[in-house]
Amino acid sequence: MLKRPRRNRVSAAVRGLVQETHLDCSHLVLPLFLIDGIGQRIEVASLPGTYRLSPDQVLPEIESCMKLGLTNFIMFPAVPDLDKDKMATYSYHPDNFYLKTASEIKKRFPETCLISDVAMDPYSVDGHDGVVKGGKIVNDETLPILAKMAVAQAAAGFDLLGPSDMMDGRVGAIRSALDEAGFTDTGIMAYTAKYASAFYGPFRDALDSAPRDAEDIPKDKKTYQMNPANKREALIEAELDEAEGADFLMVKPALNYLDVIHLLKENHRLPIAAYHVSGECAMLTAACRNGWLDFERAMPETLLSIRRAGADVIITYFAKDYALLSLKGS
Ligand code: PBG
Repeated sequence: MLKRPRRNRVSAAVRGLVQETHLDCSHLVLPLFLIDGIGQRIEVASLPGTYRLSPDQVLPEIESCMKLGLTNFIMFPAVPDLDKDKMATYSYHPDNFYLKTASEIKKRFPETCLISDVAMDPYSVDGHDGVVKGGKIVNDETLPILAKMAVAQAAAGFDLLGPSDMMDGRVGAIRSALDEAGFTDTGIMAYTAKYASAFYGPFRDALDSAPRDAEDIPKDKKTYQMNPANKREALIEAELDEAEGADFLMVKPALNYLDVIHLLKENHRLPIAAYHVSGECAMLTAACRNGWLDFERAMPETLLSIRRAGADVIITYFAKDYALLSLKGS
C-alpha cells in the first residue's frame, strides 16, 4: 500500500507535527455577569458553573483568570428593575455600577482586554435590544441611544465594544460617535450574523432580560435578529459591518452555525469571532453532569471544532475550564 494516512497518526509526537488547528487561551473570551451589591455570587440556574458576581467578587475572579493566562473578558450587567426604562437611560448614567466596575478592572488589570456588549435589552423595561414603539422595534431612534451607551463604555475604559442589537447602521453610528468623542482606539467587535436563536435562554435568565410579556411588545426578536434558515444574508450583514468600520465580525451562536463561520472566514479579511452561547454551553454541561459525556474530552473538542470552522476568537463560558485543563495537561 503506497498511501497509509495512519502513518501520520502513529504517535503523539507525529500527531503534533501534523495538527492543523490550535487553540490556546489567547483565542478565548470569558463572559462575566455583573450584579450590583457586595458579596454576591449567584449561580445561574440554567447555566451551572456560571455566576452573577458583584463588583468585589469580580476583581478576584479576573485575577485568578489572569494567573491562568486568560486575559479577555466580555461583561454584561444584571440591572435592577427599578433602573430599567423604555430608553435604557441607565446604560450611560454616571452612577452606573457596571461602568464603574469596568474602570476599576482596567485600573487594576490594564493588561486585560475588556469587551462590552452594546444593546438596550439589559436596561430596557421591554426587554428588547431597541426602542419599542407602537408594537415595533424602531431602528433609527435606537441608534443615538446605542451611540451614547458606546461612548460611555469607551470612557469607562472598555477596549472593544460588541454591538449585539442587530439594528441597521449601528456600527457606523457607533464608530462616528466614538471618533467624535476622541475614542479612536476603541474597537468594534460587531455581532454580524446574530441569529434569532432558542439557545440564548440561560443568558436571558442570568440578566432577566427576556422580552416582556405584554400586549404591544413583540414576543421575539425575529424582526432584527437573523432567520436561522439563512446563510447568504450573513454576507450582506458582514459587508455592511466591514464598510461601517467594524474591527471583528462575529457569528452567534457558534455550533449550529459553523457553516456561517466558515463562510465569513472565506469571504472577509477581518478576524472572525464566534459566540459559543449560553444554551450551547448548558447542553454540554447537562450531559456531562449526568455522566453521559466526559467534560474533559467533549469541551475541548467542541472549542476546537469552532476554531477549525474558522473562528479566530471564541467567546465561551468554558474559557476558564479550558485554561485550567490546559495547565493540568502541560
Ligand atoms: C443581548 C445579548 C444576548 C446574548 C448576548 N447579548 C441575548 C439576546 O440577544 O437575547 C446571548 C448570549 C448567550 O446566550 O450566551 N443583546
